This record gives sequence, C-alpha cells and structure tokens, in this order.
Amino acid sequence: MEKLKNDLLLRTIAGEECERPPVWLMRQAGRILPQYRALRAKLSGFKELVETPDLACEVTIQPIDELDVDAAIIFSDILVVPEAMGLTYEMIEKKGPFFPETVNSKAEIDKLIVPDGKSNLDFTIEAIKKTKQELNGRVPLIGFAGAPFTILCYMVEGQGSKTFSKARKLLYAEPELAHKLLQKITDTTIFYLKEQVNAGVNVIQLFDSWAGVLNTNLYLQFCMPYIKQICDAMENIPFTFFAKGASYAYSAFKNLNCETIGLDWTVNVNEVKSIFGNQKVLQGNFDPAQLYSNSENIANATIEMINSFGNSKHIVNLGHGVYPDTPLSGVKTFVNTVKNFRY
Ligand code: CP3
Repeated sequence: MEKLKNDLLLRTIAGEECERPPVWLMRQAGRILPQYRALRAKLSGFKELVETPDLACEVTIQPIDELDVDAAIIFSDILVVPEAMGLTYEMIEKKGPFFPETVNSKAEIDKLIVPDGKSNLDFTIEAIKKTKQELNGRVPLIGFAGAPFTILCYMVEGQGSKTFSKARKLLYAEPELAHKLLQKITDTTIFYLKEQVNAGVNVIQLFDSWAGVLNTNLYLQFCMPYIKQICDAMENIPFTFFAKGASYAYSAFKNLNCETIGLDWTVNVNEVKSIFGNQKVLQGNFDPAQLYSNSENIANATIEMINSFGNSKHIVNLGHGVYPDTPLSGVKTFVNTVKNFRY
C-alpha cells in the first residue's frame, strides 16, 4: 500500500473522525495561478497542455506548491472522452469548447468509437503516472471524467449553452438514440476511469455539470442508470459524484455505490444532511463568487460553512470551479482558514 504524507482526504472519505476537514478547489489547476498563465502563454493552446504529460504534470502540482491544498486533481478535461470516441474539440480562447462535428442521427452515433485499448486518452494516463511519481506521496491525486449526460450535451450541441435545448430535444424526440449514445459514453468512461485507477489515482470524481437543465423524471430515466453503472464498475476506489443543480434528484443519490456527494452553493446544507444522514461524505459548497469578498468575510463565511456541515464527514470545496479572475489572496484566505480550523 502506498504511504501518503497527507492522507486527510482519504481518512475523511473512509469515515474516520479527523482533526479538520480536507480542502481542495475544483479548477485549482488553472488560470487563478500566475504560474499557470505564464506557462500557458508560451504554448499553442490549452490542448497542448492537456496532451503533453510533462506539462499536465507540472500544472497539476502548481496548486499543491502555491496553495498547499490537501489534494491534487489531474490536469485534463472532460472533453477528452468525446474526442477519444471520434469527435474532436477545439478550445476557443475566451469562448470555450467547440466541436466542428456533432452527433444527432443513428448513423453518426453508430460511427462513434468505444476505445478499449490504445487511444488518445493515453496522454492523461501518462500524465497521471508522472504526477504520482512527482508528488511522491505528498497528497492524494484525484482523477475525473464527465458524467454521460454532460458529455452528451457537448456531443449533440457542439458547444456550451445555457439551456442545452438540442440535447434535451434528443431525450424527448429520440429517446432510444439518446440511450444508445449514453451507453457508448458510459462504456468509454468506465474504460477510461479504470485506466486512471490502474495508473494510480486515489479518488475519482464524476462531474455532471449540466444536470441542472433536467428535471427529476429525465434524470431518473437518462442519467441515473448510467451513473449507477459507473459507480458499480469503480468499486475499489473512493468515488465522488458532483451533479451541479441536481438537488431535485438527491434522494435517488442515496443508494448510489459512492462515498461522497459534491454540492453546489445553492443547496441548503441542513436539508441535504437530512436526505443523506450519515450515509455519504459531503463535499462543497462555498460560493466561488464569495472569494471576491474581503479576507475577513471569506474567513468568517468559511468557518460558518464548516460549522453548518458540523462533523468530519465533510470535504471543503467550492460549489463549482473557481472563477479564473479570482484574486489569489481570497483563495489563500479560504484554504488557510480551513487548514487552521480544528473540530
Ligand atoms: O483544476 C482542475 O479542476 C483540473 C482540470 C480541469 C479542467 N477542466 C481544466 C480546464 C477539470 C476538472 C475540468 C473539467 C471540466 N471541463 C468540466 C466539469 C467541471 C465544471 O467546471 O463544471 C467542464 C464542464 C469542462 C468543459 C470546459 N473546459 C469548459 C466549458 C471550458 C471553458 C471554460 C473555461 O473555464 O475556460 C474548459 C476549458 C478549461 N478546462 C480550462 C481549464 C484550466 C481553461 C482553458 C485555458 O487555460 O484557456
């Protein structure tokens, strides 16, 4: 068994009573760090970072050095999965992802690949191996993927959207096609996550970033069966499921085969605790916009949040990824407040 110098995250997930909650931030490896921006400016673009294991490793470790958080998350993107299935993406400066080709028809969905050997997911697997070596046990490494519906959103829509109406249209108009696509994404995701585990990640997080555009019925029909398959396939690794804007479906999450549920900042912690009881560790849920506040407010609100969770079945994080122009001083106040806290 690997010996970690800082295993607070793993002890918390295992349900041990800990001295304080662990802390890390979604999107901690990225534009909030001057080191990231400096490296990124020298490169052709975002994809070069993702696809060069040495660079992905370097960027993964930057927040450990700069912020001293309790976990690293491998630098990559959820969009490497649709790309491995045959839909390449571009990352357009100041706009976000764009897919020149999308899928809508049976023929287009049939054509998609489910990789089960060498694939262009290998660069992330290589990056994980390097990062594990380079971290040398300082903190656990988190691997991740997007949840099937969130990936479907990009494959059908081709870019970000406030409503993902084309993706929702597919669920209503062509439910069988939607299921076919979701199953292919699920199979690819299970393959990819197992490779991540074999390469050494200590925890897996699944991001259902666009769950908030659905409702309970659609979620039960088109999301839960696939998320359940993924959780069940990833049995021997701590698993975190984060579905943004999906509090309407929380009661169905209780029976998922996963240890941790990630919460966005809109949920009421007491209500969530009454749903999950002691069955799940909860992760979250500081409003990333509050990191623009002054340091006294940030520190007080952080302690208030920890107290609202009230026990050591809590991993401190934001309710969504940190915004790229957040002052580093606010981020540091947040992290240091957690590190100085004792139950
Ligand atoms: O630090 C980390 O969290 C690890 C790296 C990470 C990235 N993307 C790097 C990235 C992770 C975990 C992701 C996940 C991801 N990617 C999600 C799920 C999490 C969430 O935020 O809901 C989603 C929906 C994506 C898709 C994506 N990638 C979008 C919509 C964008 C554009 C918006 C933006 O933030 O610029 C990206 C680009 C992206 N992914 C960047 C980073 C650091 C910025 C690219 C750059 O450097 O120019």
